[in-house]
Amino acid sequence: MNKTYKVGVIGATGMVGQRFVTLLDGHPLFTPVALAASARSAGKTYAEAIGNKWAMSTPIPAYAQNMTVLDAEADAEKIASMVDFVFCAVNMKKEDIKALEERYAKLDVPVVSNNSAHRATPDVPMIIPEINADHLAVIAAQRRRLGTKRGFIAVKSNCSLQSYVPLLHPLKKFGIKCAAVTTYQAISGAGKTFETMPEIVDNIIPYIGGEEQKSEEEPLKIWGSVESGRIVNADGPVITSQCLRVPVSDGHTAAVFVSFEHTPEREEILAAWAAYAGEPQALSLPSAPKQFIHYFEEDDRPQAKLDRMTENGMAICAGRLRKDSLFDYKFIGLSHNTLRGAAGGAVLLAELLAAKGYFD
Ligand SMILES: NC(=O)c1ccc[n+]([C@@H]2O[C@H](COP(=O)([O-])OP(=O)(O)OC[C@H]3O[C@@H](n4cnc5c(N)ncnc54)[C@H](OP(=O)(O)O)[C@@H]3O)[C@@H](O)[C@H]2O)c1
Repeated sequence: MNKTYKVGVIGATGMVGQRFVTLLDGHPLFTPVALAASARSAGKTYAEAIGNKWAMSTPIPAYAQNMTVLDAEADAEKIASMVDFVFCAVNMKKEDIKALEERYAKLDVPVVSNNSAHRATPDVPMIIPEINADHLAVIAAQRRRLGTKRGFIAVKSNCSLQSYVPLLHPLKKFGIKCAAVTTYQAISGAGKTFETMPEIVDNIIPYIGGEEQKSEEEPLKIWGSVESGRIVNADGPVITSQCLRVPVSDGHTAAVFVSFEHTPEREEILAAWAAYAGEPQALSLPSAPKQFIHYFEEDDRPQAKLDRMTENGMAICAGRLRKDSLFDYKFIGLSHNTLRGAAGGAVLLAELLAAKGYFD
């Protein structure tokens, strides 16, 4: 995998966009050549457009500081002529995002998206690279529908479920009957910081619009199968969820209860987690965690503040696995929502697409 690809970031000034800009600094395969946002930011340098909105812990990368921000809509054709593919993370109406992403795809630009707009589209693969890389096969049918040679849309899943689906997945061989999940979600998941969301300090907000539905439904697409040019959702395992916004900057935690058809021993669960690896590990993709799932034996781990950056924020953390009185087991999961759950997961997906020749 020595070939490099020119990439654009659509929504580069946003919370997820800033992560892309940071992760692409010195990336071995991807060279950022275009940064785009709304007409409000277009024409300004990236640093000017960001103003005081920079929310990363490292400074704006030098390469990006003086790049002129392009208009994602008005400059679409120009951007398409500059890039091999784009990342997309924009805050717009769902229908507008759908149209924008299809426009780029029809300009023959592959779109690797963080947005939810196309997650339910049956021929758009929704990928957690370690779990359902085989769903990329549906891209051929999507290209036929769009009438494109290169262009397509591939999406990553919602950030909340990355803190429990990767932990349930290796346990499917024991026959998961059902799972109940409560997520404790960081404010960066809403594109916020403590400065822009002061109401979260000393508080928990028991509602995140649309999140519980996504947390229950998206896993069924991820566990689905490609049949006749579309992804057919799995029937189960059935998940019920509650999603809370908590005063944490980064890192979504999940409290999970699970019951099985064939209840495994605790050691069998731990062994399944320790052994689990996917295509990113087999292909040694640059952003892949070496160990996908890290189990912490300490009773008070994983903690968002201490553990979210495990393997550069790309690993899934687990802890507190124990028997339950109502379900078979309960445990805690944690993942970094803007790294594994957003920009990092999309960069890993793009690395997978590159390795499989989808950008050629
Ligand atoms: N934050 C997370 O952890 C997370 C996780 C997974 C998925 N997502 C998804 O990622 C997307 C972006 O989230 P975010 O948190 O980064 O949002 P955000 O911080 O509000 O940033 C939104 C971005 O969209 C751009 N934008 C707004 N209107 C536009 C338009 N008409 N044309 C082009 N660009 C436009 C903004 O540009 P201006 O600066 O010029 O306004 C900005 O770059 C959303 O769909 C969100 O659901 C977020």
